[in-house]
Amino acid sequence: MNAAPGDDLTVAYRRLNAAYQQTLRYAEDVRRLYQQVQRAIYQSLLGLANALEAKDAYTRGHSERVGAWSRGVAAALGLPPGEIDMIGQAGLLHDIGKIGIPESVLRKPGALDPEEWKVMRNHPLIGAQIVAPFDFFTGGAMMIRHHHERWDGSGYPDGLAGDEIPLGARIIAVADVYDALTSNRPYRAALSHTTALDHLASAAGLTLDEDAVTVFVGLIETLVTAKPDVGSRSAVRPSR
Ligand SMILES: [Fe+2]
Repeated sequence: MNAAPGDDLTVAYRRLNAAYQQTLRYAEDVRRLYQQVQRAIYQSLLGLANALEAKDAYTRGHSERVGAWSRGVAAALGLPPGEIDMIGQAGLLHDIGKIGIPESVLRKPGALDPEEWKVMRNHPLIGAQIVAPFDFFTGGAMMIRHHHERWDGSGYPDGLAGDEIPLGARIIAVADVYDALTSNRPYRAALSHTTALDHLASAAGLTLDEDAVTVFVGLIETLVTAKPDVGSRSAVRPSR
């Protein structure tokens, strides 16, 4: 006996609905796996950053602050989520190349001589090499390589200027400069938030990307208002 057309439709609908539900479950599994992979990536990157902090106490907390602020600026600029993640991760790892700098230079209590500065200035290149095996992080490797370039072309390692410098590297540079200024140094106390902002304002459009400075200042003002002790922490050796 043949089924009525209405029964066929019901069966087809149920099958379609079951397939749809199955697809939703697959999508949920994929989403969960993606999050797990992202978390694993972040944790391995954090492990790398911690390895640097174990070697160089001066950078303690610096990497995480620069990573968090860079991510915040990228988000405020309305960049796509993948780009925001990568800029945050590159900020976290921007100084990872210091792992390859001899401790006699990295931990020298006094000022570095010209030869030692030459060695120190290799850290962006070493950092980019360290993360080069991460296929998913090619853009991040470029941000690490170029985080000491300057808007006017006077930076290193390649002397890039303006838009030639990857946007992520320009953002990281602003966060890096602010954090260095507001940290204690062996030879001077941390500058106040207001003084550091004056420095950023005078560097905007010269050594730092003006737009990145504007967005960063908006972000850091909000954070400082919420937590006034942002400037009080341990020393960071400058690397410029
Ligand atoms: Fe650096």
